[in-house]
Amino acid sequence: MPPTRIILDTDPGADDALTILLMLASPEIKLEAITTTHGNVTIDKTTRNALAVLEFLNASRIPVAKGCSLPLVKPPHQAKGEAVHGSSGMGRTNLPEPTSKVVDTHAVDYLIERFLAEPNELTLFAVGPLTNVALAIRKEPRFAQVVKELVIMGGAVRSGGNMSPLAEFNIYEDPHAAHIVFNSGIPITLIPLDVTYKCLLTSADVDRLNKIDSPVAKFVRDVTADYMAFYLKYEGFAGCALHDPLTVAAIIAPELLSLEEHYVDVDISGGVSTGKTYADFMKVAKKPANMKVALDVRGREFVELFIERMETLCRSRL
Ligand code: RIB
Ligand code: CA
Repeated sequence: MPPTRIILDTDPGADDALTILLMLASPEIKLEAITTTHGNVTIDKTTRNALAVLEFLNASRIPVAKGCSLPLVKPPHQAKGEAVHGSSGMGRTNLPEPTSKVVDTHAVDYLIERFLAEPNELTLFAVGPLTNVALAIRKEPRFAQVVKELVIMGGAVRSGGNMSPLAEFNIYEDPHAAHIVFNSGIPITLIPLDVTYKCLLTSADVDRLNKIDSPVAKFVRDVTADYMAFYLKYEGFAGCALHDPLTVAAIIAPELLSLEEHYVDVDISGGVSTGKTYADFMKVAKKPANMKVALDVRGREFVELFIERMETLCRSRL
């Protein structure tokens, strides 16, 4: 079976970086390009981080297109991102300044060009605020018809939020973009906090990985250091949720996910529940399902798979 060809829209971010590592370590996937968005940190930092991680992994052949610096309507909240991912967005890593450059095309135009050029051949992963994706949908009406599948890390369906009591960060950061994307007709698979919080990478897991003397193992330790410190201080557990990496399970281990088809939308009313993703479980709105939602996961099995793939990557970079 040929690998799934993926373009990743991302706001690196520690778990975003782990997602890039996992995609590059997975033969089921061909990571074709990265588009960057504002989110965990500023667009300049997320873009620099994407270039730096690819260079660190000798993957600078993968093009990077720089995207939107602000949400569609509301102001950004990068302070939370910096608290979790460090001021650079890369935790305690110290990757050198990248020598590679972004492509000349804005991420929104790059997405439109790539997906129109090969209709229904490419899969889009979005693991940050959905601003770029929403603008691609609005700028090019054909865009929603040529995306093979859109896998999103975002939302809190039955779960509480991690940015407000009700809303998850990526959706909360640009709820208007999420509302556009959720109602676009693109085939969506949503990976919300309901399942990502069941995939905790622990410090013991990181220590086990670092039994391999590899710069990749050290990178995983350093990029998650602030992340883990935040979780221990504010959420009371010694580990970090593999939010973004769990999206990759949709391709490499779909059997670990319990997916259900539902109509899901986002509250954009501007009140206390703004950014809340809600599923019409009782079908009272009488609208057709607009996505597959992961509502359960075999979390520890995914974490073990993640570590196995990291160990393989480490051994290739001794
Ligand atoms: O809520 C988790 C999401 O917010 C992840 O994508 C993480 O990188 C942050 O962007
Ligand atoms: Ca992210």
